[in-house]
Amino acid sequence: MTDQHIILENVENGQYFYNEAIKTLRTNIQFCGSNIQAVMFTSSIPDEGKSDTTFSLAQSFGSIGKRVLLIDADIRKSVVASRHGIRGRINGLSQYLSGQKRMDEVIYHTNVEGLDMVLAGPYSPNPAELLEDPLFGALMDEARKDYDYILVDTPPMGNLIDGAIVASKCDGAVLVIESGGVSYRLVQKVKSQLERSGCRLLGAVLSKTGGEGSGRYYSRYYKKYYGKKYGKYTPYEEEQKIRG
Ligand SMILES: Nc1ncnc2c1ncn2[C@@H]1O[C@H](COP(=O)(O)OP(=O)(O)OP(=O)(O)O)[C@@H](O)[C@H]1O
Ligand SMILES: [Mg+2]
Repeated sequence: MTDQHIILENVENGQYFYNEAIKTLRTNIQFCGSNIQAVMFTSSIPDEGKSDTTFSLAQSFGSIGKRVLLIDADIRKSVVASRHGIRGRINGLSQYLSGQKRMDEVIYHTNVEGLDMVLAGPYSPNPAELLEDPLFGALMDEARKDYDYILVDTPPMGNLIDGAIVASKCDGAVLVIESGGVSYRLVQKVKSQLERSGCRLLGAVLSKTGGEGSGRYYSRYYKKYYGKKYGKYTPYEEEQKIRG
C-alpha cells in the first residue's frame, strides 16, 4: 500500500507502571471482540493525554505482532510530528482529505514494529468539513483490509465536533479523562455525544493519576481558557463557558 518511511524519535517510555497500564488497556480492547477494529481516542478538554495514550497503545499492539495504523485526526493542533522529531516534507491527512494527495501518499511505515502512521498534515481552517468528506470513510475502509487495528487520535470533544464525526466511522471510542481535571457533567456531555454518533463507548482511561500532576494541569487549562480574571470557579461554571 505504501513504500514511504518515517523515523520516529522519543518512542520509549521507560515508566514501568505506565507501560503496565498500557498493556492492560491493550488487553481490554482485545477482549472487546473481533468486531472492534477501528478505535478512536478522545477527551473532553485539551491536554488530557489522548495523543500519548494512543501512541503508546499503538506501539504496544505492534510489539505483539499486530499490524496497526495510527491516524492523527487532530488537524487543528497536532503535536505528533514535533513530539516524535519527524522532519522533512511529510504529507498528511488534511492534504489527502482536501484531494491534494492520494491515500498511499499519506501512509508511512515507521521504525516502530508493526506501526504505520497517517500524520495530521498542515493546519486547515475547516477540519470538521474535511473529516466529513467521503474520503475519510474511504481511508478507514481501506485500512480495515490491511491492518488489525486502526487507532484514531482526535481533538477534545468538549466544544469541537471533529471527534463525533470520526466516531461515526469507528467501531468504538475510548474516553481519556484526566484525573481531577474535568467536571463530571462535561464528561457526561461528551459521553452522550459519542453515543449519538452511533459509536460504542468501550471505556475510559483515567490519566495523570496521583502525584502533584493533576493540580498543575488543572490550573494550566483554567488559565489557558479563561484567564485569571474569573477567579475561583465551579465545575458547573466551567462547563457553561465551554458550552458558550
Ligand atoms: N498518563 C499521563 N500521566 C502524566 N502525564 C501525561 C500522561 N499522558 C500524557 N501526559 C502529558 O500530558 C501532556 C498532554 O498529553 P497529550 O498531548 O497526550 O494530550 P492530548 O489530550 O493529546 O492533548 P491535546 O488536546 O492538546 O491534543 C503531555 O505533556 C504529556 O506528556
Ligand atoms: Mg493530542
